[in-house]
Amino acid sequence: MDDDFIIQRVDALQVLDSRGDPTIEVAVSTKRGVGRAIAPSGASKSRFEAVELRDGDPKVYRGRSVLRAVENVRRYIAPALAGLDSRAQRFIDRKLIEIDGTPNKSRIGGNAITATSLAVLKAASDSMGVPLFRYVGGLRASVLPIPMMNIINGGAHAGNDLAFQEFMIVPVGFDSFSESLRAGVEVYKFLKDILKERYGVAAINLGDEGGFSPPMKSIYEALDALSEAVKRAGYDLGGSIYISLDVAGSQIYDQGSGSYVVDGSRRDLDGMIDLYMDIVERYSILSIEDPFHEEDAEGFARLVDRLKGRAIVVGDDLLSTNAERLRRALEGKQVTGALVKVNQAGTFTEALEYVELARDRGIITIMSHRSGDSEDNAIAHLAVGMGTPMIKTGAPARSERTSKYNELLRIESYLAGESVFFGEKILLYIAR
Ligand code: PGA
Ligand code: ZN
Repeated sequence: MDDDFIIQRVDALQVLDSRGDPTIEVAVSTKRGVGRAIAPSGASKSRFEAVELRDGDPKVYRGRSVLRAVENVRRYIAPALAGLDSRAQRFIDRKLIEIDGTPNKSRIGGNAITATSLAVLKAASDSMGVPLFRYVGGLRASVLPIPMMNIINGGAHAGNDLAFQEFMIVPVGFDSFSESLRAGVEVYKFLKDILKERYGVAAINLGDEGGFSPPMKSIYEALDALSEAVKRAGYDLGGSIYISLDVAGSQIYDQGSGSYVVDGSRRDLDGMIDLYMDIVERYSILSIEDPFHEEDAEGFARLVDRLKGRAIVVGDDLLSTNAERLRRALEGKQVTGALVKVNQAGTFTEALEYVELARDRGIITIMSHRSGDSEDNAIAHLAVGMGTPMIKTGAPARSERTSKYNELLRIESYLAGESVFFGEKILLYIAR
């Protein structure tokens, strides 16, 4: 009965994220089911993403509470959604955008809108009695993504001097998601030994995304430790396992001098390109994310050209999960990969349009968590449902990260013999 899918109730609650900051959870219920979603939160946000509404009262959660966003869901969103069919995702997302009425979702709050949009999606799939990934992707949704595991944290995610934000290992040469995950975990454990040997026990403290946060002064130290860990674990760097980087370029850009600061020295655009070429030459690099700041279109375009056939250039802050920004970046040949963060866009539908555009144009998509995340494991389902070849969801540590990996293991087990691992096919995208 269609009645079973009608939204009966929408409610919101202030809960905590993985950094202990308040965030918003929205619950949407129909007669037959319920969907609950928690908004994640970035530390290295772009100025082009949907605005996260925070109350700003220094006496309450030091300004970080989200009670206005909660109130906005109750007062404006709940009455507008009551009585609508939860399966009308596009219509509902358009309605959320309309209710907000601003170009950057700053009135109702991108956090309130993201949590509502995903809660509606989950309520519909729950009411239908199908897993979320199936509801999103139908029968085509049987490809498990390659995990990109961020096992050394720097930049805004760690209390050390590493300039680059994320040093990831990417186990591509395996037959299944679970085998790939296993290899990643083994490398992570060997890395822990190496860091303890070289820097002492304080080096194995964890950063925001579960990677180690060692007191390193140079990006080369991090790359060397990763290479050594892959070797000790018995895998082949550049064979079954690759390294990926997220520089988070906006964070190391100095507006005043127009230069980037890496390992204590300033570099202009040419200097940065030389650095990247050197790294790609010496290590097996699959991809580099946000190599330049979010408005440095020229830097991105020049690097794409130089890395043709060698590594993928991924846009995160540059694109901000915005189809229009992606269209422009594709015209200027500025990226060969696109990061996907639903809360940068604000709604599921906008994120889907962005993923479809990327796929139509033959570039790789990567589903992504945020550095402030939660037990909500929706992105595991979205990666399989939307068919993104890779997923970036941190190290295999801290439950807000492992909750996504564990859900992917469940999806793989649910699909049994029907599942396919994206695996080495990813290398074809580099070859282009
Ligand atoms: P953020 O960083 O969630 O702190 O913005 C993640 C990323 O840059 O990919
Ligand atoms: Zn990033």
